Amino acid sequence: MSSTGEAPGKVILVGEHAVVYGLPAIAVPVWEARATATVSPRAQGAGCIICAHDIEREIELSRADDREPLALVARLVLRELSMDPDPDLQIDVRSQIPIASGMGSGAAVGAAIVRALYMHAGVVPADSVGSALVYRSEEVHHGTPSGIDNTVVAYGKPVWFVRGKAPEVFTPPCSFTLVIADSGVPSSTLAMVAGVRSRHDASPNEYNAWFGEIAEIVANARRAMETGNLHELGELFNLNQDLLELIGVSTPDLERLVEAARVAGASGAKLSGGGGGGNIIALVADYASERVANALIESGAKRVIVTLVGARG
Ligand code: MEV
Repeated sequence: MSSTGEAPGKVILVGEHAVVYGLPAIAVPVWEARATATVSPRAQGAGCIICAHDIEREIELSRADDREPLALVARLVLRELSMDPDPDLQIDVRSQIPIASGMGSGAAVGAAIVRALYMHAGVVPADSVGSALVYRSEEVHHGTPSGIDNTVVAYGKPVWFVRGKAPEVFTPPCSFTLVIADSGVPSSTLAMVAGVRSRHDASPNEYNAWFGEIAEIVANARRAMETGNLHELGELFNLNQDLLELIGVSTPDLERLVEAARVAGASGAKLSGGGGGGNIIALVADYASERVANALIESGAKRVIVTLVGARG
């Protein structure tokens, strides 16, 4: 008998980077790109193997060290469930989420492994438990992540997130459409966060003022989502993009895509995640999604995903 767990990709709507400094951010799951993990029994004494099909890797759990995030997350779950540390299991992992694009692929794969192993043990993991286990494996990739990525993929719902506090899960009353466009340029969140940290430490007053402005945008964005004011939400995306440019995480490639989305009729557009590459998001009226998606492809996006936020909780 095999057990399968899945988890969505994610995008940050507003508040990335400032969230590392204790300010709020809003992130939403993207179910159109998801990770799955399937746990199946192996012959007795065969031990545990993790097959990460997209990156063509087979990891023998007994040999892998803790710097291997997939092995670490599996090990943490087995320990949490008081199971054999090297059970006779195969864990097949597949993901549709582009790697190093700001869509939380590492966190989603981790969350899928957590769910699959828990289901194999006949236990439903609390979202908070899944999130905490994934956070510990994310630290290997990202140093000191804020925790927003593991939270949104483990809860699978829009979240209002403040570092160190319990996340607030919320469902906007009206759904809205986002077009997510991948610049195709890989980006390291670790490096982007470190760059902001060193510039912040060199000019703390300036950066803290910009982070304060981002926090106001995030609070206003939540209100706009709750009142269904999508025009205002789009404007807030644009303002957030201006500030992300000021803190030095935007690039000409990302700005070309942002501009193409706005010209094609998006109510607002911004980079999403660490920046330096990865994705932009554009808020669009339903009828404009195809036009904006086509404009983004014509402007060099490598892949476009259209997602309805709020449609699945
Ligand atoms: C990465 O998805 C978002 C950042 O704010 C980093 C973090 O929150 O850990 C850039």
